[in-house]
This record gives sequence, structure tokens and C-alpha cells, in this order.
Amino acid sequence: MTEPQLNRMNRGEQNPQLVVGRGNPNARLMLIGEAPGAEEDARGLPFVGRSGQLLSELISEAGLDEQHQLYICNVIKCRPPNNRKPTAKEIEISRPWLRQQIDLIDPALVLLSGATALQAMLGVRSGISKLRGQWQTHDGRDYLPVFHPSYLLRFRSREAGTPQDLTLQDLREARRRLHLLSES
Ligand code: URA
Repeated sequence: MTEPQLNRMNRGEQNPQLVVGRGNPNARLMLIGEAPGAEEDARGLPFVGRSGQLLSELISEAGLDEQHQLYICNVIKCRPPNNRKPTAKEIEISRPWLRQQIDLIDPALVLLSGATALQAMLGVRSGISKLRGQWQTHDGRDYLPVFHPSYLLRFRSREAGTPQDLTLQDLREARRRLHLLSES
């Protein structure tokens, strides 16, 4: 973090910067989260705070190479004030930007991490639990809803059937599908 950014954070100023994405722009697998948090805002990169660390851990444990096989971004490109959940209107306003980003990266497979991403891309408002782990085809791409890592931080255990274990299974499933694509 740079000194001006640190000072800005310490003063509690709300002057969010754009957080666009990170990873490989040619990746066939994309992950969409919700919105940048404080650390992401300070560094200008998505998923680099505590939930991002857990996400990276799970991605690597699932056998995926984050740097080369993934492109990571959020529905909302600026940190919402006080880390609150994005409103339906904010999601609506952000959708065209996200659509353009998806068109540019052109992934075959997309992980929808959390309810905001699920709502933004598939219009589903019912939460993630019902659909997680089930591929959804939409506009020629396959979408896999998965839990959001900040939800996973509430649970420590990775025993069978726990949210972290289920997410690991989902990421392994994404890796399997990615592998099939590279063979076809
Ligand atoms: N949560 C998100 O959804 N995205 C980030 O970049 C960080 C935390």
C-alpha cells in the first residue's frame, strides 16, 4: 500500500478507486465476486484482502493455477461506502460494464462467487445455496455459482460437507470442465 493510500484510509476518506480485474485476460475461466473491500480499494486489485487470501488458497488446493488459468473481477468496480452490500440499483448500473468485461475476456466458464454475482449475471435473487455447484448455461457460457469467500471465512473446518469443502469440490469441478475444454 502506498503512503498516500494509507493516509487516506487512516483518515477514513471515501474516495474509492476503480478496481477492474487481475489475472490472465486470455483465461478461459473467470471468477466474478461482489465489490472491492478496503484492501482491494487501496491496492486497486480484486480479492487481495482476507477473503482473497482464502480464495487463492482454495484455488490452488483445487489444482488451478490462479495466475495463468483465471481472470478475477467483481460486479461492482468501486468500494461501496462502509463496505455495505451493493444495492439493486448499483448492480443494475454496473451490469453493462461487467458485460463488456466478459465480452472482452470471453471466458467459456464463469464462477459466480456469492449472491451479488448470481443476481447480476443470471437475475437470480434467491441466494446462492440452492444453485451452488450446478452449472447454468446462459448466452453461450457456462456459469457455476459458488459460495463467496467472505462467507467461507465464518467457518474454519474443511471437513466433508462444510462450506469450504463444498467450495473446494466446486473449484475442482471447474478445473475438470476446463480440462475437458482444452481437450476438445
Ligand atoms: N469481496 C469481493 O467480492 N471482491 C473483492 O475484491 C474483495 C472482497
